[in-house]
Amino acid sequence: MSPKHIISSAEIANREFLNRLFTRAGELEKKAELTLTGKLAATVFYEPSTRTRLSFETAMQRMGGMIVTTENAGQFSSAIKGETIADSTRIISAYADCIIMRHPQIGAAAQAAEVATVPVINAGDGAGEHPTQALLDMYTIEKELGRRGDFHIALIGDLKFSRTVHSLLYLLVLYPGVKVSLVMPEKLALPASCLTFLKKHQVPVEVYTDLTSVLKTADIFYLTRVQKERFDSTEEYEALKDVYILTDAEVSQMKKEARIMHPLPRINEIATSVDENPRAAYFRQAANGLYVRMALLEYVMLSDEV
Ligand code: NCD
Repeated sequence: MSPKHIISSAEIANREFLNRLFTRAGELEKKAELTLTGKLAATVFYEPSTRTRLSFETAMQRMGGMIVTTENAGQFSSAIKGETIADSTRIISAYADCIIMRHPQIGAAAQAAEVATVPVINAGDGAGEHPTQALLDMYTIEKELGRRGDFHIALIGDLKFSRTVHSLLYLLVLYPGVKVSLVMPEKLALPASCLTFLKKHQVPVEVYTDLTSVLKTADIFYLTRVQKERFDSTEEYEALKDVYILTDAEVSQMKKEARIMHPLPRINEIATSVDENPRAAYFRQAANGLYVRMALLEYVMLSDEV
């Protein structure tokens, strides 16, 4: 049987799978089990990470598994000597039961999956995708709103380069009654392919350049960091970096049950004074990453379903 890779959330486009995964994540949230005893995961990160790498590694260890890791693979692995992703992956496949990879290049995890003999999990490929973040985002939305569908989500900020947004869209179309507002400056517009995808799935989409238009109506406010590392010039980044800033003034206009999410790290997008507001769900969202990744690690390494 071929390994169960997690490369794009487009491939996870299945409600049954989400239901099973989230049910298991909920169980593991209550109590971790030692189901991964004897399993070893390799975390191979060619780009910086705090939450993604540490939550995957914590998930492995809390479930009795082990990890080998290279946190700055671009510098400290043989990549610096010119080794290809394919060659590195072949080698790591022989050591570990699962490869969790982050890389600055779009398509890097897919390249690895082509040659890997163990599951490859895409932990972010450049401005491409970040499917495990999308899974924890949907788990959070379901939990915070207490319903599976019928919500208005505003995606705000750098929708061009935010891989978490790209991956989230593929899952949003699985939910009934979802309305999407894109709040973005022209220079950071969502890629046309993503917009076409939403339209193809008949998701109502509205586009705004200002935040005020959605403040009173959205149920989920999903803010993103302007992705500094993807810009060609510092000036271009500086001109856009503070394009949307959420302060108490804006938050007070939101519905009481609205929720504010952010994949983190936050730079200036959300004032720290908002953190105490019950609508601020971003730290709970990051905590959920652990349980969803626990369930996902079980799925790729243990279950027999295809
Ligand atoms: C995101 C990423 O790496 O794409 N971070 C994360 O994994 N939570 C978002 C970001 O870096 O802005």
